[in-house]
Amino acid sequence: MSSQTSSHNGSAPSQILSTSLRHWDDIPSADLRRGYALALESGKVLSMPDLAFAMGSAELPLLDPALVDPKRKNISLNGTTGRVVGVAVEDARRDAIADLIRRYASQARSLVNAVLPHYKEHLHSPTTSLRLHRVTDWKPSWRKDDSRLHVDAFPSRPNHGERILRVFTNINPTGEPRKWRVGEAFPSLAERFLPQLKAPYRPGVASLMKKLGVTKQVRSEYDHLMLQMHDRMKADLEYQRNGIQESVDFAGGSSWMVFSDQAPHAAMGGQFMLEQTWFLPIKAMAHPEHAPLRVLERLKGHALV
Ligand SMILES: [Fe+2]
Repeated sequence: MSSQTSSHNGSAPSQILSTSLRHWDDIPSADLRRGYALALESGKVLSMPDLAFAMGSAELPLLDPALVDPKRKNISLNGTTGRVVGVAVEDARRDAIADLIRRYASQARSLVNAVLPHYKEHLHSPTTSLRLHRVTDWKPSWRKDDSRLHVDAFPSRPNHGERILRVFTNINPTGEPRKWRVGEAFPSLAERFLPQLKAPYRPGVASLMKKLGVTKQVRSEYDHLMLQMHDRMKADLEYQRNGIQESVDFAGGSSWMVFSDQAPHAAMGGQFMLEQTWFLPIKAMAHPEHAPLRVLERLKGHALV
């Protein structure tokens, strides 16, 4: 259950750091914690090949794509309101799914508290998703196609440079891997794409979009750049094929953690996954200079929020 393979394209160092964590509340030594924080905040994926999410046999029938509301991609829990949305059935399975997602949210939180205690007081706006569809069954437009390398940027949810921290667990009971591609470190990605991001930032348009409810907050210049970078990466087929990248298989029964606004990633295959997201202010980072906001500000030569 713990295998993980990785193959490289190009001579760049691997962006995957493997850990030996086995339990959600394992507290690594202070040295290891420092190393994990530096790797993660530098944009690496922290792989936890032996960290599984335990499911009871009564829960296994919940691994059924028919339980997802056809209007939604996933079932999700808003950790602030406690609301679960996206369940297609009204019977006892609804409560069983909610219990499972809440249990995962709590374990993912224990993990971050144990491994990255300096984030504890600062993580906010948790959301958890249960992803039951096979990755390849989702055929969206190119902009929403997550099988293309991208960094996460949410069109309706500007974050003004706050970090997007995600924990994933492959809960495929047969061990089938979640197949990802992971791209290069953010500074070289930004140097590659920044010169191609030509659309000027217009504060008036950003304010109007907030007024009209298109965005939850006013888009900052940072958000404007990150959305363009997300789109340029996905639209660039040469980059998708030949850009610096490595393939990684996350086996069933394994977990991984990443700042998804920083590490280029693409989901290529697999089915049945749990995922936890939080936002994190830059001030909570041990190495804030690695934040995409700070990298882009250095390259642009001015403040972006
Ligand atoms: Fe993504």
